[in-house]
Amino acid sequence: MKVSLWNAWPLALCSTAAFAQAPAWFELKPDLRAALAAKGDAKRGAGVFELCEACHRKDGAGRAKGNFPALAGQHASVLMKQLADIRAGRRFNPVMQAVIDDPSITAQDVADVAAYAQSLPVRGEHDKGPGKALAPGKRLYERDCASCHGAAGQGQAAQFYPRVAAQHYPYLVREVQMIRDGQRRNSHPEMVAVVKRYSVADIEAVADYMAQFPVPGK
Ligand code: HEC
Ligand code: HEC
Repeated sequence: MKVSLWNAWPLALCSTAAFAQAPAWFELKPDLRAALAAKGDAKRGAGVFELCEACHRKDGAGRAKGNFPALAGQHASVLMKQLADIRAGRRFNPVMQAVIDDPSITAQDVADVAAYAQSLPVRGEHDKGPGKALAPGKRLYERDCASCHGAAGQGQAAQFYPRVAAQHYPYLVREVQMIRDGQRRNSHPEMVAVVKRYSVADIEAVADYMAQFPVPGK
């Protein structure tokens, strides 16, 4: 196994009080703890983001086909957890692996790029889905998902719950499938239990509904 500088980042520089403790549903590994302890500098993060633009685009909007998710406006806490999980192989992402495996990327870089991506404006030009299953999608979402992801898909930064509003429909479909089928590990066990019961039609309906949420801040 490769030793990464990320794990070696000094933890005691400063601490981010809001994220001093991880919620009970996942173990705070040293890589993420180091990124959370660093104070994200969005200005510096703009430089780091150059590594990401080829896939996630300069404005962080991702691509409508959904193979590259939107990052703009996502909670920095969520972005840092995802980066740590992808880097550690806890989340299967062969396309991005080589980029994020670069040992010169430090915990500070991760905190900075997360602060930058969170600060990017959300334009709302994502793939909003077919819009044909909104009624069943709404029923499922409100029953099974809203308690964590929020009534308008806003997520919860302090709990590491992603914002699902303004995300591409095909990406939402794929992620729920991956969560259901165990390809996206280190997810919330309560969510995994819920989506295990979902058929493809249920997943498409709930994603259809999520993709239509009003754009945050508009
Ligand atoms: C070579 C293309 C590529 C590059 C470059 C790349 N990514 Fe990604 N990224 C992807 C793909 C593909 C996925 C989605 C994988 C999946 O389907 O789960 C992804 C997913 C993510 C996610 C998870 C998003 C979510 O909503 O869960 C984050 C965060 C992320 N990338 C951040 C970055 C950052 C920051 C950089 C630059 C340091 C970067 N990526 C560079 C291809 C790339
Ligand atoms: C108990 C809280 C909880 C519930 C209930 C829940 N989720 Fe999640 N969801 C999470 C967390 C936490 C994550 C991030 C997991 C990780 O870190 O990889 C997540 C991630 C996701 C993602 C990936 C977002 C991204 O940007 O990559 C999607 C899509 C999603 N959830 C959809 C759903 C749907 C649909 C439901 C209802 C059927 C649901 N969730 C129910 C907590 C929850």
